[in-house]
Amino acid sequence: MHHLIDILDLSTSEIEELISVASDIIEHPENYREKCKYHKLATLFFEPSTRTRLSFEAAMMELGGKVLGFSEANSSSASKGESITDTAAIVSGYADIIAMRHPKEGAPLVAARRSEVPIINAGDGGHHHPTQTLTDLFTIHREKGTFENLTIGLCGDLKYGRTVHSLIAAMSRYKGVKFVLISPEELKLPGYIKHAYIGENGIECEETTSLETAMPKLDVLYMTRIQRERFASSEEYEELKDIYILNEDKMKSAKADMIVMHPLPRVNEITLAVDDDKRAAYFRQAKNGKYIRMALILKLLDESKKSDTVSVDKPDTIYTSALVCKNPRCITTTEQELRHAFRLVNKENNIYRCVYCDSKAVPDTNK
Ligand code: NCD
Repeated sequence: MHHLIDILDLSTSEIEELISVASDIIEHPENYREKCKYHKLATLFFEPSTRTRLSFEAAMMELGGKVLGFSEANSSSASKGESITDTAAIVSGYADIIAMRHPKEGAPLVAARRSEVPIINAGDGGHHHPTQTLTDLFTIHREKGTFENLTIGLCGDLKYGRTVHSLIAAMSRYKGVKFVLISPEELKLPGYIKHAYIGENGIECEETTSLETAMPKLDVLYMTRIQRERFASSEEYEELKDIYILNEDKMKSAKADMIVMHPLPRVNEITLAVDDDKRAAYFRQAKNGKYIRMALILKLLDESKKSDTVSVDKPDTIYTSALVCKNPRCITTTEQELRHAFRLVNKENNIYRCVYCDSKAVPDTNK
C-alpha cells in the first residue's frame, strides 16, 4: 500500500503519469464519473483549509465517490485527547482513503504507520504539502510546457511556507532549474531544505531580499503568504506581514511569459489589479488542484488494491532514545509513546534528522 507523505515518495515518472491522467480527466470527465462509485474519502482536517479540503472533496465526488470527515480539531475526538495513531486506526476502518492536515509536523507519517488505507498528507505544520506541489507541478506543466531550464522565484515566507519546501524538493529533480529565494533574513529557507535538495543536486540558487531586482529574471514567480499562525510572537508577524506586495508596477519589469503562482489564500501580497494580468496563474492553479487530486486518489486506491504491504519508514531509519528532536512543532512533542526515530543525513559530521519533521537531532542530555 502506498501513502503520499512527502512529494519525493513519487518518482518523476509517477508525477508525469498523474499529470497525464489529470489532463485526460479535463478532456474526458465523463470517463471518470463512476470510477470511485463504492469508495469513501475521509478528510481529517485538524487545521483550517478551504482549497485543499474542498478540492479533495470535489475530486472524490466527481469520481462518483462519497466523502466524510471533519474540518477542525474541535469537532473531532482530538479535543478529547485521542492520539493520531488511534484516529488513524479508527477512520481507516470507515474509509478507503484518508486526506489529513495537521498542525504538528510528521502527524501524517504517524497516521500512515497505523492506517489500513492510504494516507495523503494535506499539509503538516510548516513542513510539507505534497498535494499542493502536485497542483503546482501540473500548473507549471500546463502553463510552461516543461519543468526544465526554468528560473523559479520563491517569495515571502520561505521559513514556514510548507508549499515552498515541497516545491523545491520536487523541482530540484529537473535539469537546468534555478531558484531565486526572495525573503527577509528572518524568513529565509531552512538550512535542511537548502542542503538536502538545492545543495545536494548542485542547483544554481540565489538569495535576495529584493523582489524588484529578481523580477526580470524569472520564468515563474511563486508568491506566498506570511504564515501568521506559525510565528512565536504576534509582534514579529506584524513587523514582517507586508514586506512583499506584488503590484502592477512590479509586473512591468517581468518577462512577457512569466507566470505568477500562489498556493492561496492571499492576504495582501498580491494586489487585486494583478488578477487581470494574463500572467496571473493562481486561480487557474487552484482549479488544477481538483484534477490532479482526482488522479492521485485513483492511483492510490488502485495501488492499495494490488498490495497490502505498508512501506512507511525508510530503510535507514533508526530508533534510539539517545537523540531527541527539539522542534516544538514536531508530532513527537504531543503523540504519547511515539518512539523517536532518526536518519543519518551527513556521515562526515554525524548529523541525524528527525524522521517526522526533519529537524536536526541533538543528544539527549538527560541520559
Ligand atoms: C497553503 C497551505 O495550507 O500551506 N494553502 C493551501 O493549501 N492552498 C498556503 C497557505 O496557507 O499560505
